[in-house]
Amino acid sequence: MSAPSIQKYFLAKLVVVFIYVYIGNTIPIVVNTWPFTEATIKGWNVIANNGSALDAVEQGGSVCEEFGKCATSVGYGADPDEIGETTLDAMIMDGTSHDVGAVGDLRRVKSALSVARAVLEYTTHTFLVGESATNFAAEMGFSVVDLHSNFSTQQFKSWRKANCQPNYRQNVAPDPTKSCGPYQPVKRRARRQVERSSRVSPWVDENNHDTIGLIAIDKDGNIAGGTTTNGMNHKVPGRVGDSPVAGAGAYVDKDIGGAAGTGDGDVMMRFLPAYQTVSYMEQGLTPADAAERSINRILKYYPTFSGAVVAVNLKGDHGGACHGFDLFPYSVQSAQLQNVTVYNVTCIKKYVKYSASDRKESNYFNLIDWISRFILYYTQNV
Ligand code: GLY
Repeated sequence: MSAPSIQKYFLAKLVVVFIYVYIGNTIPIVVNTWPFTEATIKGWNVIANNGSALDAVEQGGSVCEEFGKCATSVGYGADPDEIGETTLDAMIMDGTSHDVGAVGDLRRVKSALSVARAVLEYTTHTFLVGESATNFAAEMGFSVVDLHSNFSTQQFKSWRKANCQPNYRQNVAPDPTKSCGPYQPVKRRARRQVERSSRVSPWVDENNHDTIGLIAIDKDGNIAGGTTTNGMNHKVPGRVGDSPVAGAGAYVDKDIGGAAGTGDGDVMMRFLPAYQTVSYMEQGLTPADAAERSINRILKYYPTFSGAVVAVNLKGDHGGACHGFDLFPYSVQSAQLQNVTVYNVTCIKKYVKYSASDRKESNYFNLIDWISRFILYYTQNV
């Protein structure tokens, strides 16, 4: 193209981007993992009343921390660890400043997501854990209470009765696939480096991972993300999963979009799938394609893992990907939807080896390019 043509092309592109952004926008928007629509509606109400994306994520996610509101895998009173105690993980991220507040292995405090928000607001740290996180929460005015319920006590008793199955220990005696602890390490053989690891938790299913991960974009275009969960049922005490780790549980960037993950956190946190998905969106992939590539990267090493990622870009386009279940439902409320809507993603079945030339461009960018070229052709030939 000649220099004037290049100028015209970029001018046309600017006009098309402007029109596309203003006509095609579906923000503000709230998106969250699973059909936890009460959380979506709460987050949406915050935004509809001119609240911030951060408030929408905090207040939306907090709905699921009430016992029995969403799934037993979020909040107090369920999914105890090996000693019968429920502990909580949560994080919240501001996509404008990239400030993050997170708590892991939080004990005896119900409002994990709000404690994470307090870490963001009242410290310059990112992540507090265990008893010290509890002490911090108490200082910030949160109630310290017992997180047991009849339900969690019953879950714990049934687990003990079933010889402590499921069980996440390995290379210990007595045999953790048959017996409860206490355990001693057994002499390990020299570690072989294997490409396909078997270190996945076979116990992760649709009921044993239900982190809520949320992404919200408010009326001012600010984006926030967050997660809250009680982690794996019968986990080893002290275990912290992917949910409170920035880039693993959730990640947001005000110039790109956001993503949140759910599933086998021990595996997922090794791949930072939320960060990876945002990074793929930055390269031009749609949210659905970006999420699929991130899940696919995990499958290369853990072909039997279970998990999902949901993503949204700054226009409000959203999508997800999953493996290990049949379907992954996620919930959306946006400027264009009358009501909260649950979308179902069909999970991918196996690892796909992509080559560099397989890079899928976002339809959004393709469309802009085609229309810009058409305008250029039209102005040159008419
Ligand atoms: N994804 C939640 C967890 O593994 O703790």
